[in-house]
Amino acid sequence: MSETKLNGQVTIVTGAGGGLGRSFALALAAAGARVVVADCKLDGAAGTVEQIIAQGGEAIEMELDVAEEASVERMAGSVAQRWGRIDVLVNNAGIYGGITRKPFFEITSSEWDELMAVNLKGPWLCARAVFPFMRERGGSIINITSATFYSGSPLWAHYVASKGGVIGLTRALAREAGDYGIRVNAIAPGFTLTEASLQLIEEAAQYGVNRGAIKRAQQADDLIGALLFFAAPDSDFVTGQTLVVDGGRQFN
Ligand SMILES: NC(=O)c1ccc[n+]([C@@H]2O[C@H](COP(=O)([O-])OP(=O)(O)OC[C@H]3O[C@@H](n4cnc5c(N)ncnc54)[C@H](O)[C@@H]3O)[C@@H](O)[C@H]2O)c1
Repeated sequence: MSETKLNGQVTIVTGAGGGLGRSFALALAAAGARVVVADCKLDGAAGTVEQIIAQGGEAIEMELDVAEEASVERMAGSVAQRWGRIDVLVNNAGIYGGITRKPFFEITSSEWDELMAVNLKGPWLCARAVFPFMRERGGSIINITSATFYSGSPLWAHYVASKGGVIGLTRALAREAGDYGIRVNAIAPGFTLTEASLQLIEEAAQYGVNRGAIKRAQQADDLIGALLFFAAPDSDFVTGQTLVVDGGRQFN
């Protein structure tokens, strides 16, 4: 633990039981934050916490279903009760890896609703739940959207629409939360190698590489600079923005 940029800041990362969320949680802890590792899979969350503690950081796991209002409210209340503040929320949890890609006319109504509940309603519920604990001191909300919104990536219309919704939510919340010193920004990763993305697309390791200005596969670590920028006071005057981090595949 050498960096102290986020010294003692209480940071919630949803969906941090694996994949990008785990990388985010590890990086925030390494920057000095106290991290709440929240996931619907408690064993994954516990694994992340174990790694953070092994690095000398501070973290706790919490079971959370971002689509369930009561679960989200409970999580925010427990964090505030334990640490008395919430400084940063990373809305990362999403239905992503398990998606069966198919034409829009084959997506069922229940698949659409389930995905929207997690990917779009979830970030709103989480932002709403942390607001009472951020409004006095200010804070930062970071929404993880996707570069698929800019490419209009085919065969998962519900996913792309949900991520577009997250960009709209980011802008609307930023307008309203500015008066409370809360900034709201989004990161739009390109196709990034995680366990989930490797299952999603054949030949994932080379997917899209030639379309980038920087021609190599994207790793979770490529997102950390943007994450820490939005989490830390460096971005104090930046809000409502979406930063595409994809090696220059999409220009926004
Ligand atoms: N990997 C990529 O290429 C990529 C690209 C762009 C955006 N993203 C986005 O980044 C985020 C993380 O992606 P990933 O590759 O790590 O995928 P992932 O499937 O490994 O991670 C998603 C995490 O969210 C958790 N989760 C799912 N539903 C939940 C719920 N209802 N409540 C709480 N937790 C829940 C899962 O248990 C998992 O730990 C997602 O929002 C995804 O859409 C990923």
